[in-house]
Amino acid sequence: MTGPAGTAVAPPVARSEAAVRLTEVSKLYRRGRTTVQALDGISLMVHPGEVVCLVGASGCGKSTLLSLVAGLDQPSAGSVFTGTVPPALMFQDAALFPWLTAARNVELPLRARGVSKRERRDRVAELLHTVRLSDFADARPHQLSGGMRQRVALARALAQDADTLLMDEPFGALDAMTRDHLHAELERVTTECGLTVLFVTHNVGEAVRLGDRVVLLSSRPGRVIADIAVPIERPRRIDTTEVAELAAVITGRLHTAAGRDDAG
Ligand SMILES: Nc1ncnc2c1ncn2[C@@H]1O[C@H](COP(=O)(O)OP(=O)(O)O)[C@@H](O)[C@H]1O
Ligand SMILES: [Mg+2]
Repeated sequence: MTGPAGTAVAPPVARSEAAVRLTEVSKLYRRGRTTVQALDGISLMVHPGEVVCLVGASGCGKSTLLSLVAGLDQPSAGSVFTGTVPPALMFQDAALFPWLTAARNVELPLRARGVSKRERRDRVAELLHTVRLSDFADARPHQLSGGMRQRVALARALAQDADTLLMDEPFGALDAMTRDHLHAELERVTTECGLTVLFVTHNVGEAVRLGDRVVLLSSRPGRVIADIAVPIERPRRIDTTEVAELAAVITGRLHTAAGRDDAG
């Protein structure tokens, strides 16, 4: 493309092209004299509305990658793009304030943004309805089950009005039945709200159940070893042959990569 004075002009980049884009991202942690390279040359693009699951062994840099996308830390090299609205983040631990009711916990991001009292009340009611917890607005976290606490955490994340939701093993501590239920709930909520999701898990079946794509990271340092589109129609169930077969293929690739690392 050529500009008015014959200068090269980059083609216009559509604003909606990427919700999250990492370009050649590396991250080194220094501990005294030793340096740990957590990530090496990660390039990854997540399109708006897409659900991308990131899988890899414990310690391969998944949480590091999410913290960079969340803007909690800076890469040692490369760049991270997330658009103008900071992404919302959800962890394995719901991290609710124990002395606040579910409604008050959900209300926090709205208060932080200076939303008016009346608008806050309506929005909290709407968000609790979205996560099917309208009847538990006045319950405190210790009165809720683990799955319910994660739904409160999800409502609180939604209250940030972010376009992108970053989830770090959010269902890792839940029993299988609760987790299956929350998979369906998450799918419904993210579709309803048109959210982009970057979901970290070491559970390959969960990644195949949820993801439009599954991105595999190698261990020490984390590199992208494969980026696999999941061709399985929705709604999906984690306990089907299709999901199990693709999960087995992915697990095999992770083991092969781990074997190469050990040999090298
Ligand atoms: N703040 C930190 N300081 C030093 N090393 C860290 C820090 N955070 C993570 N690491 C190291 O970086 C590597 C990746 O960690 P992490 O991103 O937590 O992996 P994962 O989430 O995949 O289990 C590990 O070797 C871990 O010990
Ligand atoms: Mg982690």
